[in-house]
Amino acid sequence: MNASHPGIHERVRGLYAITPDNAATTELISKVRAALAGGARMVQYRNKSTDKQLRLEQAQALLALCQAAGAVFIVNDDLALALKVGADGLHLGKDDGDIVAARKALGPGRLLGASCYNRLTLAREALRQGADHVAFGAMFVSPTKPAANRAPLDLLFEARRQLDAPVVAIGGITMENAPKVFAAGANAIAVVSDLFDAPQIEERAREFASIYGLWARPSINAATPRRSSHDPRVANVISYEPSTDLSFQPMKNSRNQELFDRALKSIPGGVNSPVRAFRAVGGTPRFFVAGAGARVWDADNREYIDYVCSWGPLVMGHAFAPAVEAVALSAIDGLSFGAPTEIEVEMAELLRQCVPSMDMVRLVSSGTEATMSALRLARGFTGRDLIVKFEGCYHGHADSLLVKAGSGALTLGQPSSGGVPAETAKHTLVLDYNDSAALEQCFREQGDRIAAVIVEPVAGNMNLVAPRPGFLEAARALCSKHGAVLIFDEVMTGFRVAPGGAQAKYGITPDLTTLGKVIGGGMPVGAFGGRRDIMEKIAPLGPVYQAGTLSGNPVALAAGMATLNALLKPGVFDGIAAAAKTLTEGLTQLAAREGVTFCAQSIGSMIGLYFRSSPPASFAEVMQCDKDRFNRFFHAMLDEGVYLAPSAYEAGFVSAAHGKSEIDATLKAAAKAFALVK
Ligand SMILES: Cc1ncc(COP(=O)(O)O)c(C=O)c1O
Repeated sequence: MNASHPGIHERVRGLYAITPDNAATTELISKVRAALAGGARMVQYRNKSTDKQLRLEQAQALLALCQAAGAVFIVNDDLALALKVGADGLHLGKDDGDIVAARKALGPGRLLGASCYNRLTLAREALRQGADHVAFGAMFVSPTKPAANRAPLDLLFEARRQLDAPVVAIGGITMENAPKVFAAGANAIAVVSDLFDAPQIEERAREFASIYGLWARPSINAATPRRSSHDPRVANVISYEPSTDLSFQPMKNSRNQELFDRALKSIPGGVNSPVRAFRAVGGTPRFFVAGAGARVWDADNREYIDYVCSWGPLVMGHAFAPAVEAVALSAIDGLSFGAPTEIEVEMAELLRQCVPSMDMVRLVSSGTEATMSALRLARGFTGRDLIVKFEGCYHGHADSLLVKAGSGALTLGQPSSGGVPAETAKHTLVLDYNDSAALEQCFREQGDRIAAVIVEPVAGNMNLVAPRPGFLEAARALCSKHGAVLIFDEVMTGFRVAPGGAQAKYGITPDLTTLGKVIGGGMPVGAFGGRRDIMEKIAPLGPVYQAGTLSGNPVALAAGMATLNALLKPGVFDGIAAAAKTLTEGLTQLAAREGVTFCAQSIGSMIGLYFRSSPPASFAEVMQCDKDRFNRFFHAMLDEGVYLAPSAYEAGFVSAAHGKSEIDATLKAAAKAFALVK
């Protein structure tokens, strides 16, 4: 028996109360009753007493309580007792007996859990032998077993990724660390002391249960109840009915709308970055209050599967526990020093290792800073003024780059910004993406004046556009021939298209690379780097000035390092890319079934959805997509609990937390949405 056991994930989740040794049956019963009243979903009876009669009586009494509460009752370490009382399951430790024999005796209907300490191999073996779920711990130093082996939080994440079975975390779990444990991937938390020693057991159980409601990653299917009603944020939940009204009116009785109305008074357009404003798709922007894994919750307590992932950075999912933990620990040591720190060296080394074209790296705080600095450097290095960019590519909002740009600028129909002096704009030459002939002609005419060609090697700011074979090669050859600097802007594609970026995927070596997004794991980090002879022109080594008070901020880098370290583990990147592929293939099939003109593609963990018959290869082709149909599709998906980028001109992002259940739920939502928009 294993995770294919029907309903296993529904049975093993939430607060798993493990009883303290207690000979006083009445007291034990009243404690467990309180835990169940507060929302414990599982109870494990653990009593090392040698008094068989006492154990039998207690087990029978607790089973009756659990049955009345609809909770699962599990006996620890005593197969005979479990069978005798008719428990829902048995839990075995390393020395507690033979899993195969227990499985056989229990039959298929009862649960069998196994302690696996801090070892994945043990878990794999236990599942092979017939266990249904596995427990890891001690997660933290615990008063019950102070000397137990520590299991790292990462292990939970790995176990969820590698094993198709519920994962229980145990040992030293408290109200303070429980969010981390759920966010790391635990399906259930087994708690003894912090629950049963609490002055108000019911209240404490309710608090644990509410953390589960906030942080767990329930699968969206009919069998799964909505988020726990104990969740304090659910108290004022606005009941939600999928809307068939596609006029995208402001939301009624909505806290999202309330917040937006307030924001409009103090913040231009109510947002701090234009594409968040929902201008392209209409309706009310969602204000998010929490995220965990692949899911986010808005101010009206609605849950969404998120394919924006903060516009790319959250490649490991929201509130990725190792990143959150690293940030917390780093913050305790100090928020900023304005002086060098070790983690900056580590990050620079890691980036060089992953992106070998970068001989040297400078860390900054955003993608915009990275591209702006890289351009200045290219100009300083070559002594030339002109730069070449491509229509629909967005490289941040520095003056010389806001000429025929993509992303929010494109979404708002202002690809070229006001406030950019004509004098500045005239130094930016704009060509068609994927047009090698135009690039060649441009170099033929002005090659000795061109400082740099800057390109998104896979364009992600006019939806997702792949480079045509030969395009990046042409850019490389022309830059080399004419002494111009080739800049790959991999702020979006870095660690998304491939771990080494688009340059690794397509085998082209740029002179400079810009990075951002994923390398900060959700915190503000950017980087630019490349050829040593070029990078040595930067201050303090050379004459090109570039600086930043918060550049290389250690707290931000802590999130980035934890994210990259997890992403670079064997199989993680490929797993995300596979999920992205399954999703886009599934969407394409569903649209075809409904007769909707649509296609989709994934490149690594980036996705492009297009309401046209084939993926676009140029800005002009992107413009041929049916924007109105996208907008209706966007709202239909939003109504179904799927958050796509609020613009037809943006790529989407899949994370390591988008597992089978999220992809299936998304496809289920899309089946309805396509039917609505056809
Ligand atoms: C390719 C590319 N370059 C640069 C940027 C600018 O990065 P930031 O928004 O961090 O300034 C972006 C942002 O979307 C981007 O996609």
